[in-house]
Amino acid sequence: MNLFVANWKMHKTRGEARAFADELSALLGPSAPSIELVVAPPLTALDAARDAGPRARWSLAAQNVAAEAEGAFTGEVSARMLANAGCRYVIVGHSERRRLFGEDDALLKRKLTRVREAGLIPIYCLGETEEERVMSLTAATFVRQIDTLCDDPPDTPLVVAYEPVWAIGTGNAATPEDAAAARAHLAELLSSRRDVRILYGGSVTADNAASILERSGMSGFLIGGASLKPTSFAAIAGIRLRTED
Ligand code: PGA
Repeated sequence: MNLFVANWKMHKTRGEARAFADELSALLGPSAPSIELVVAPPLTALDAARDAGPRARWSLAAQNVAAEAEGAFTGEVSARMLANAGCRYVIVGHSERRRLFGEDDALLKRKLTRVREAGLIPIYCLGETEEERVMSLTAATFVRQIDTLCDDPPDTPLVVAYEPVWAIGTGNAATPEDAAAARAHLAELLSSRRDVRILYGGSVTADNAASILERSGMSGFLIGGASLKPTSFAAIAGIRLRTED
């Protein structure tokens, strides 16, 4: 089933999250969508962003997780706490965390272990920088970043998000052809996995989503800026918006 993940990053108060949830709920209507929707709000808005309806039509993800299980780690939130707060997924290895917070492969491996211990599913992000792309290092970057998953149990569900760093928040999405080539290489590197979905992320909008999805073979998107509005998130996910009837 295709998967569409809204990564809100550091946006939305609890009230704003609740307004989003109410609006998304109205757009979806009572029936369960035939695709899978996930919202990754800031931790303070996890409760507010949940589907308050009788049937959860979307699930929750955390944007980050501690590398340790428990203890004196001021400011950290453990995988067990995230599971207990209603998360099903955790984003691990987003390029903003790698780049701005110095998260390296060793740290990400520990985070992945914690995520699995808590029964959560990682949305593992990877992708080349502009510099790596120009130097034809994209393939080598994939190999290195996929190697971080070497201890992750191959028979558990996994989501991998291909997010070229040069495409994130720039308005310059990968072409469907580039995304297709990346997907093919990543699928090959992940061929020992039983249950893996590969998503694309980076400047996905309601205007480019359909053509990237159709022509790249990706199983969905990780969406930043365009996921902040319920209408554009739903449109990207291909949900026919309900009109007054
Ligand atoms: P963007 O962000 O859609 O705003 O480019 C994607 C992401 O960082 O996950």
